[in-house]
Amino acid sequence: MSSNLQNQNRVRVAIVTGAAQGIGRAIALRLAADGLDVAVNDIERQKGALEQLVSVIQALGRQAIAVPGDVTSEQAVESMVGSTVQKLGRLDVMVANAGVAHPGTIVDMSLQNWKNLNAVNVEGVMLCYKYAARQMIKQGEGGRIIGASSICGKKGVATLGAYCASKFAVRGLTQTAALELSEYNISVNAYAPGMIHTSMTTAQKDSGWASLRKIAGAPQAKTGYPDDIAQWVSFIASPGSHFMTGQTTIIDGGSKVLVFRSEAEEHNTETTAPASLTISVRSPYISTISYASIITESRFTLSACPLRPWHGCTSLTEPTHSRAA
Ligand SMILES: NC(=O)c1ccc[n+]([C@@H]2O[C@H](COP(=O)([O-])OP(=O)(O)OC[C@H]3O[C@@H](n4cnc5c(N)ncnc54)[C@H](O)[C@@H]3O)[C@@H](O)[C@H]2O)c1
Repeated sequence: MSSNLQNQNRVRVAIVTGAAQGIGRAIALRLAADGLDVAVNDIERQKGALEQLVSVIQALGRQAIAVPGDVTSEQAVESMVGSTVQKLGRLDVMVANAGVAHPGTIVDMSLQNWKNLNAVNVEGVMLCYKYAARQMIKQGEGGRIIGASSICGKKGVATLGAYCASKFAVRGLTQTAALELSEYNISVNAYAPGMIHTSMTTAQKDSGWASLRKIAGAPQAKTGYPDDIAQWVSFIASPGSHFMTGQTTIIDGGSKVLVFRSEAEEHNTETTAPASLTISVRSPYISTISYASIITESRFTLSACPLRPWHGCTSLTEPTHSRAA
């Protein structure tokens, strides 16, 4: 993936969803401090907080606009991207940060709660990826798409079933989008925070986060701050990250290492795996054959083998071949 963005002098433009508070607000401020113009999104109810954030960003000398809207609505996400391009000129960085958490056990889970949560955490992220990608492809100059996963997207946590499922889904979507968009020089990555001090974790009085804290072995499990995530986003949004895509990176002060150390496969395997890999095989009959690889959790699979028997390469005529990474 080339670093197209590095060669451009123009001011880059970012959208951050769920930016009225917490991690999203910190990311918007950080990107503004990095020199980007920023469109900040949240639900209508948070319009006041968004307007206040816009003033703070403008005081930093950057352009900013509020683009309120519910990320579960396709029309709202399309118009959020459209307004940003119309008012700020383009779109280079999408941070699909908006998310919600409703703790509850599987046996007590209400289908409506499940749907509401997944509408924001999965469908909202998918829509942001989709419309950001369309705009970036149209611009033809690459881009950065960033999603919000969680350590709960790396490992199941009792009483957080719907949340964990949604954050695992963000990882899958991120890997897939990275593969689909790499030809356009658009990288797609996600952050997987541990416990971060925001209203999502401090306002919850019920068992979900208490359970997570217990499982996380508090007090060893550290609590981070929104800026800890914003720093990572700052790098991923920058031209210097161009060689990194498809990754969901744990940012948790080492807590997950303490908690899940016995399960090697649960470690951050994605950070060591390339987003795509091309292997060339030479035979007397074909000068070079290329295989696209699909990264899985702990191994890669050679797939879409283009060989035909008449190529005379009989040892490689199986439709797929796997080996441990
Ligand atoms: N705080 C943590 O410990 C933690 C850990 C792992 C992952 N995360 C993830 O990071 C992201 C930000 O979390 P946070 O702690 O800042 O949460 P937060 O609750 O402080 O902020 C989330 C923001 O998203 C907004 N939002 C909710 N639904 C929306 C919708 N439909 N459309 C637009 N905006 C919407 C909310 O109004 C809120 O301002 C979330 O995706 C969360 O799941 C947080």
